[in-house]
Amino acid sequence: MGVESSSAWRALKQHCQQGAGEVHLKTLFDQKNRAEVFSVELDDLFLDYSKNRVTEETLKLLIDLAEQQALPSWIQRLLDGEQVNDTEERPAMHAALRAGGQGVKGEALSVQKDIELEFEKMAGMVSKIRAGQWRGFSGKPITDVVNIGVGGSDLGPLMMTHALQNIKSPIDLHFISSIDGTQTSNLLKKLNQETTLFVLASKSFTTIDTLSNAETAKDWLEEKIEDPQTLLSQHFVGVSTKPEMMTQWGIPHDNQLVFWDWVGGRYSLWSTIGLPIALKVGMDGFREMLQGANIMDSHFGHAPLDQNIPVLMGLIDVWNINFLDIQAKAILPYDARLKYLPSYFEQLVMESNGKSVNREGEAVTYKTCPILWGEVGPNAQHAFYQLLHQGTQAVMCDFIAPVERDDFDRSRTFGTDESLHYQHELAMANCFAQSRVLMLGDAAIPESIKQQFDSPFKHYPGNQPSNTILLKTISPKTLGMLVALYEHKTFVESVIWEINPFDQWGVELGKLIAKETHAAIKDESRADSFDSSTQNLIKRIVK
Ligand code: F6P
Repeated sequence: MGVESSSAWRALKQHCQQGAGEVHLKTLFDQKNRAEVFSVELDDLFLDYSKNRVTEETLKLLIDLAEQQALPSWIQRLLDGEQVNDTEERPAMHAALRAGGQGVKGEALSVQKDIELEFEKMAGMVSKIRAGQWRGFSGKPITDVVNIGVGGSDLGPLMMTHALQNIKSPIDLHFISSIDGTQTSNLLKKLNQETTLFVLASKSFTTIDTLSNAETAKDWLEEKIEDPQTLLSQHFVGVSTKPEMMTQWGIPHDNQLVFWDWVGGRYSLWSTIGLPIALKVGMDGFREMLQGANIMDSHFGHAPLDQNIPVLMGLIDVWNINFLDIQAKAILPYDARLKYLPSYFEQLVMESNGKSVNREGEAVTYKTCPILWGEVGPNAQHAFYQLLHQGTQAVMCDFIAPVERDDFDRSRTFGTDESLHYQHELAMANCFAQSRVLMLGDAAIPESIKQQFDSPFKHYPGNQPSNTILLKTISPKTLGMLVALYEHKTFVESVIWEINPFDQWGVELGKLIAKETHAAIKDESRADSFDSSTQNLIKRIVK
């Protein structure tokens, strides 16, 4: 029996049809203590979920659904390192990476020693590079590190290092991901072979995007370095689950960091894939990030369902998607340091739950993952918010903002503390104004200016649900908490939908066909069996 025909699902459906699906958010706010009732705080993270179209009854029914789907036992199975990734026959132990040997059981406990040994090797590299003791071929210290990776081997380190930009580092970090070579050629023009180190980051070590960029980087180094051994040992580090393939490529053992197949690509920033993060904030900062995530893991494992932040966020998304028929979600950080957070969450959420087949391999008959996108909120206000306010699509939004900007005082590069703090106040005012208008619609218009809005073109329907997440500051710890929250919330949704969030078969076919297509670009006769559109496009390229 699928979840849709279960009693808990049907109870929610009935609750929705009997009026809960129709109530406008502004009516729900007649309850004076609503913000207090529908918010929760954990350490440095505060979640206000009151601007969702839920009542206490809705939440009770959602918790019944979670219990019916055995969510508590799934959470334990995940955290204990049981085989939750059925199609790839392995556990998903990203939480084990940040446990620091504490409070874990089963398989998650047995891998703690391996994790610590690898982190010690990584710490050695990090301190050598940051101390200027890792030298290039001419004896000069490394000043620039370029991470070459894509997807999970790029986005996590890119997002974190950008978010933590105010923490001073002796190393300049750069990222190359796209297969087309533009980023590589632009970046290499600015760098110096003598002082540049490349991190070749690939879980599978077969990703053509990464390997082709690495070959281009190698060619660039060869312009100045004659000895291949020197080139590889002083200018390349590898991070992968495949040490033998790193060796084959030429990366010496001492320059290799490994991780394990039980770390999903989109969950890998907690592993040695996080090397650029540690180069940016130091190994202590990296461990702070792990500790932040671990705070969320232990909350996820122990808090009752009705106070459990990832559980609440996941269940409310299920309510929005499956009962209110809202199929899009916007991620809206109100701090430009979080510029890459939407892209990071796009991979995390859509690669995990963008599935239409359940764990038994049967087609599901209900909606799963929404379309997720986002942008730095203050910029998006001047771009796509029009659709949020007056479009025909219902969209749920996650507003994310820091309470304090503790970075301004330390990094006075321009302006005064006052002027920058004033700007932070403005950003927060915009963040809270937007979620309020999206929720209330016309009801947000002050009485004194109502007349000015007396036009169908100036009508704001409101009723767009949102969460607001406030972080005390932007720090390794709070970012660790935030990312772990989204990982677990995504897992909660997968349990309700009965799908495996840890595989990604959908991306495999495209990779395979790209190889075949490349062969046809090299030898047009191999395109004979292709459709006419692809044949035509190939012809134009070959010409
Ligand atoms: O194409 C998708 C994907 O498989 C992601 O899951 C992964 O993060 C990315 O490619 C990169 O893979 P790899 O780290 O093996 O190079």
